[in-house]
Amino acid sequence: MDSIRACIFDAYGTLLDVNSAVMGHAGAVGGCAEGLSAVWRQRQLEYSWTRTLMGKYADFWDLTIEALDFAMESFGLQDRSDLKKRLLDAYLELPAYPDALRTLQALKEQGYLTAILSNGSTDMLKCAMRAGKLDSTLDACISVDDIKTYKPDPRVYRYASDLLKVHPNEVCFVSSNAWDVGGASSFGFNAVRINRQDSPVEYRFAMQKHQLSTLSELPELLQQLKR
Ligand code: 2OP
Repeated sequence: MDSIRACIFDAYGTLLDVNSAVMGHAGAVGGCAEGLSAVWRQRQLEYSWTRTLMGKYADFWDLTIEALDFAMESFGLQDRSDLKKRLLDAYLELPAYPDALRTLQALKEQGYLTAILSNGSTDMLKCAMRAGKLDSTLDACISVDDIKTYKPDPRVYRYASDLLKVHPNEVCFVSSNAWDVGGASSFGFNAVRINRQDSPVEYRFAMQKHQLSTLSELPELLQQLKR
């Protein structure tokens, strides 16, 4: 990789465990917990892309609610307003993956600028960073809401590199989402995919530079690349 100065992270699914909102209430949800969580996430992402293409931006919290409404109705849970509130509250305080904090700390100790670049709204990110205790290890927490379009629109990656005053080839962009890694690579960031589930390769036209199975491998990878 080129000389890296900044490590920019995706938030949801990369630093924050999105499935924990539903899985933490699996007893109340019943047997469809995994399905509900998957449909919720899939629709949330889909709405971000379709709204971008339609020119109908709404912030990520609105999309998160719309997606949960669809997911709950898909599983016959539409009348459970108590459950909906609990799931949304949990989504605001998603736990960070166990290796997220120490990875960010290690990168800071190595002298990298650290930031988040997320589709999440500013308020969602503030709550999540506070709950996950990640705020003190980040130099910046950048929301697409500033420019009202969603990743993987290249304008989002451009906005982050301009804001942080780093050239794209000085950025290591880290995401567990293949579509985000593809978008970041296509823009010109050095992208690293965190592939916890060992999912098949996607977006071969805009491949990640490296793939890791955990965040904790990242500081060592960056050290190796310097040698
Ligand atoms: C993000 O945090 C939604 O995972 C996506 O930008």
